[in-house]
Amino acid sequence: MRQPLIIGNWKMNGSLTENEKLLNTISTSLITIEGIEIVVCPPSLYMAQVKQQLSKTKIKHGAQNVSEFQSGAYTGEISTSMLGELGCCFVLLGHSERRALYHENDAQIADKFSAAVKANIRPVLCVGETLSQRQCGETFSVIAKQIKTVIEQVGIEAFAQAVVAYEPVWAIGTGETATPEQAQAVHANIRHQLAEYDVNIANRIHIIYGGSVNASNAQALFMQQDIDGGLVGGASLNSDEFVKICQATNEIF
Ligand code: PGA
Repeated sequence: MRQPLIIGNWKMNGSLTENEKLLNTISTSLITIEGIEIVVCPPSLYMAQVKQQLSKTKIKHGAQNVSEFQSGAYTGEISTSMLGELGCCFVLLGHSERRALYHENDAQIADKFSAAVKANIRPVLCVGETLSQRQCGETFSVIAKQIKTVIEQVGIEAFAQAVVAYEPVWAIGTGETATPEQAQAVHANIRHQLAEYDVNIANRIHIIYGGSVNASNAQALFMQQDIDGGLVGGASLNSDEFVKICQATNEIF
């Protein structure tokens, strides 16, 4: 049985004051929740604040990106060891915004994946198709390629501590969500692809859904057999909404 996982992706939002308020509310409201793993991913600059404020809770924190390099002349970048020092235990990789706006490609994402695994930080590999790719019937092949490149570069064993996040690009921040059936079909296909390399890893790995998840659609999505939780963007900035998503998830597992 895979313990459900809910990850909040704050993106480039927040401030010292807003973060404090948000973390206070969610940590107080979720204190009794036992059955699910909860993670928040703030902008890296706030990692020390988040670490400190969550230190007495079970809520974990992660980063939204990391460099593939260890140290050196990479202006503006942050390494896995720096994230590790600040207690980060997850890192989002290959988010569609990073692929589209910062031109990250599968090979570079695989290098970041490898750096994260070596530093004992769990990579959350984000994959997903655009609307036109879906309309052309390319959803499965696009995602299979995004995953295959990483497997071929880092080896399937590295997926033992990874998470895959299926995030259809057309559903991110748009208010439009994949139906539970649409999402389940993709999740099952991803698990099937991983099983071709290693059945145990495929059965154990968390495959979470992201794309306009909110308190009203979370349960129906996460009830699907191969959906093990969610990557929540906009709704993770609203404490009421985020708490309700976590509570709704806790009820079904
Ligand atoms: P959204 O973002 O929930 O606002 O659609 C999800 C994500 O980008 O991770």
